[in-house]
Amino acid sequence: MTSATNASKRGVIFSGMRPTGLLHLGNYIGALQNWVALQDEYDCIYCAVDIHALTTVESRADAAGIQSNIEDMVLDWLAAGIDPERSIVFVQSHVPEVMTLHTLLSMVTPLGWLMRVPTFKEKVRQMDETEETVNYGLVGYPVLQTADIILYKADTVPVGQDQIPHIELSREIARRFNNFFGDTFPEPQVKLTEAPLLVGLDGQAKMSKSLDNHLDLAATPEDTARRVMTAFTDPQRATRNIPGRPEVCNVYSMHRMFTPPNAVNAVYDECTTAARGCVDCKRQLAASINAFLEPLRERRREYQARPEYVREILHEGGKRARNIAARTIEEVYEKMGLTQP
Ligand code: TRP
Ligand code: SF4
Repeated sequence: MTSATNASKRGVIFSGMRPTGLLHLGNYIGALQNWVALQDEYDCIYCAVDIHALTTVESRADAAGIQSNIEDMVLDWLAAGIDPERSIVFVQSHVPEVMTLHTLLSMVTPLGWLMRVPTFKEKVRQMDETEETVNYGLVGYPVLQTADIILYKADTVPVGQDQIPHIELSREIARRFNNFFGDTFPEPQVKLTEAPLLVGLDGQAKMSKSLDNHLDLAATPEDTARRVMTAFTDPQRATRNIPGRPEVCNVYSMHRMFTPPNAVNAVYDECTTAARGCVDCKRQLAASINAFLEPLRERRREYQARPEYVREILHEGGKRARNIAARTIEEVYEKMGLTQP
């Protein structure tokens, strides 16, 4: 495509997550599982985007939470199978070059592009701000995200539907830079995660921490079972002897994701003939989910027992990322007519 040559000739993946703390099953199904699989085919760079997290921080106390959130989140990444031997795992602020590139990209980014981003308008509304009072950092959020990606000349960005407008903007910013200063950056492509949506325990909305309808990956089997037992089922099934409707029951939709196929058929038959009750059905689902999570929990325990090793992983990842970043910044300085320091 462009000058994004890397020694191994594999595509370069970049993706990031804001450090919000412990991840849940929806994060795993919706993103993390895919990140793990992509390691087989791409050179992958995975980043805990702590500077992005600062766009909504207003106090020392908020800020202090970011560090422990990074630790919790990265442990979940490693537990899920992100392999630090193959992939670069690092913390955004450990590579200050991204802030340099952010500033330089802001010179080629029309304000109108940023004001039109749907996530921007939404965030401003959510935060009870106006376009006058909102901080400059939030307006530039997609510019920083673009810097994240193209600093490493990544060509492929695995994200969910909600991030499509951001990556579209990244392509436009990269294209504009290339037009002004010569071919430098690949235009990053979205790689949509084709995961079925995991609905939360309330059966109402997608699994999310803020709605408290989630199952933490790191929860104990007992806690997981306890929470699964609170899941909403077919609301018309007021008593045990009324047949259920699996197609409207979220417990059934989770069985389809976590229970072996032949057992799922039994769930369907026994539900629709009232041969099983919802309590037993949920008990079985909890067992399926716990079996699914067991390998993650095992790996999490191993990493958790070696906190200095996890710190070393992030340190090494930061060093490897910085090496690539420094080369890109050198090239950008040259193209933009800045002298090397
Ligand atoms: N904006 C993304 C989110 O909120 C996180 C993110 C930051 C990101 N930088 C990125 C995602 C670069 C992909 C690539 O989910
Ligand atoms: Fe849902 Fe299972 Fe109850 Fe049927 S038996 S309504 S699938 S929880």
